[in-house]
Amino acid sequence: MHSDISLAALVSGEGTNLEAMLDYGLPVKLVIADRPCKALFMAGRRGAECILMPRAFGSRFDRAVYTKSLRAVLAHHRSEVIACAGFMTVLDALIFERFAGLMVNTHPSLLPKYPGAHAVHDAYAAGEWESGCTVHVMTALVDTGPILAQRRVPRVPGDTVESWHQRIKVAEHQLYPRTIAEFIRTRFCL
Ligand code: GRF
Repeated sequence: MHSDISLAALVSGEGTNLEAMLDYGLPVKLVIADRPCKALFMAGRRGAECILMPRAFGSRFDRAVYTKSLRAVLAHHRSEVIACAGFMTVLDALIFERFAGLMVNTHPSLLPKYPGAHAVHDAYAAGEWESGCTVHVMTALVDTGPILAQRRVPRVPGDTVESWHQRIKVAEHQLYPRTIAEFIRTRFCL
C-alpha cells in the first residue's frame, strides 16, 4: 500500500494542494515550509509533522547551503518521495544527489509552456484562452522533467489572472493527489 511510503511535502503558500493531498489520504509524514505560511499552520492542525526552515532572500540567500540543509532533514526523516506543493524556492541541483527521480511538482500551466513563478499571469498576458496544470517529475532544470499528467483549464470571458488561477487550482486539487498516488505505486511497484 502507498501508505507505507514516507512522503514529504514542501510548501510556501496557501496550502490548498497540500490539503487536497491530505484529504486524498496520501501518506504525508513530513511538511517543510521555507517561510511562515498558511500551509504550515493547516498541516500542523491536521497532525502532520511540520518543520519551518526559513530561507533568506536576496544576496543573503545561499542556495547550496539551504539545499544541503533541506536534503539532510529529508534524509534524517527517511523521506522517500518529495512533493512540492506551491514551494517557491528553487533548490540547487544538489538535492538530486539524494532524491533524483523521487521529487514531483505541480505547476499551473501546460508545460513546457509558461514555466516559472508567474505562469498564469504569463499565459494571460500572452492572450491564451487555454492553459491548465501539469504534474511532473522534477529535474535540475526548473519546471522541466517527465510529465506525469496534465489537465486543460480554459480561460472564460471576464476571468482575471486570479480567477483563472483559482479554477486551475481546483484542477490541481483533483489531478495532483491521484497522480502522486499513481507515481508511488509505479515507482515502488506497489
Ligand atoms: C499552485 O497553483 C501551484 O501550482 C503553484 O502555486 C500554487 C500553490 O497553491 N506553484 P497552494 O499553496 O497549494 O494553495
